[in-house]
Amino acid sequence: MYDVATSVGPILCVVGARPNYMKIAPIIRALRSDPAAPRATLVHTGQHYDEAMNERLFADLELPPPDVNLGVGSGSHAQQTAEVMRRFEPVVDAAAPSCVVVVGDVNSTLACSLVAAKKGVRVAHVEAGLRSFDRSMPEEINRLLTDQLCEALYITERSAAENLEREGIPRERVHFVGNVMIDSLKASLPHAVAPAVVFAANAVGPKLIGEGGRFGLVTLHRPSNVDDQANLAESLAILTEVARELPLVWPLHPRTRANIERFGLDRTIDGKRIIRLPPQGYLETLGLMRDAALVITDSGGIQEETTALGVPCLTMRENTERPVTIEQGTNVLVGRNRGLVRAHVADVLAGRAKRGRMPELWDGRASERIVAHMVSWLVGRAESAYA
Ligand code: UD1
Repeated sequence: MYDVATSVGPILCVVGARPNYMKIAPIIRALRSDPAAPRATLVHTGQHYDEAMNERLFADLELPPPDVNLGVGSGSHAQQTAEVMRRFEPVVDAAAPSCVVVVGDVNSTLACSLVAAKKGVRVAHVEAGLRSFDRSMPEEINRLLTDQLCEALYITERSAAENLEREGIPRERVHFVGNVMIDSLKASLPHAVAPAVVFAANAVGPKLIGEGGRFGLVTLHRPSNVDDQANLAESLAILTEVARELPLVWPLHPRTRANIERFGLDRTIDGKRIIRLPPQGYLETLGLMRDAALVITDSGGIQEETTALGVPCLTMRENTERPVTIEQGTNVLVGRNRGLVRAHVADVLAGRAKRGRMPELWDGRASERIVAHMVSWLVGRAESAYA
């Protein structure tokens, strides 16, 4: 039998940080279950290294352990990006891949794209074309540059195609496939951990969660909200005001936890109404998100997941690279504007929350579409299980 794995180099699938894992998991699964697809090798750059940021998510997503771990760790943006490049180069040399697949917009995404492109190795970007038009975000720089280097650009929403066209990317490179993160969400939702279980595991007594178990879920980690003392204090003041109406549950990113401590802001947080948790696993986060009355976040992915779940989302940012979550989903931008937050929380508590709908192609099959395209693109024959 024709052995594709020996005739075409492997596909190197790259992950670096937490939001990458739920995107790569369904792609690895689809590649490994398609006999026509080249072998898939999972490379972890080690940008995120904590147990809480890694092992639990890998297990929850049924991601196989990485074949290669570059163990890069933290550093300045330049250090981290350079270190990923330095350590990824010999991996590419040894593997002679047919393609490198990168996802999202973290430093590892750009670093690995740059190494591969300069070696003449094809790069595919999953979640291409999203733009916040805010170059003070490190992710925006990563997105812009990564997309210039890629030969296949898989997009989650139609706005991305317009952005890429404006930037001169040839149209035939762009493929509207849907959202792989929603593939993971759909596959895992039946296994989501109920909030009561999460609370019990973290010794949160039932009295802390309001009547009827109503609570809001918070995640904040963007430098713009948490790295500057005044902005972090203002974010905390907003949460304190919301928490008077609705108890809040807040799994803390290490960056945010460290800054609360560094700025001495601990004492400004009412621990009875704002319940801080360590970073949670994927199934725990899904359960908290699904059952929350509302979500307050500055994450990119959570804007999309709340839209898919139909849960109201208040995004504490001035812009979003995911406009479909505003136009069609449950997302609203509130920045750090107290009046806006107050009005939206009141609407949610009065049952007048914005109702959204599921965006086009967020149907749980994006990874199948990607693999079908990859097989015909890399192997040159339409023999994919998904074609
Ligand atoms: C990175 C991504 C961001 C993504 C976020 C999700 C970039 C530019 N940013 O930001 O897009 O939304 O991941 O979490 O790539 N730390 C730990 N343990 C870890 C990892 C980090 O304690 O496993 C701490 C370190 O003190 C580090 C800080 O968190 O300095 C920030 O980590 P870093 O990877 O630089 O960026 P994130 O803020 O996590």
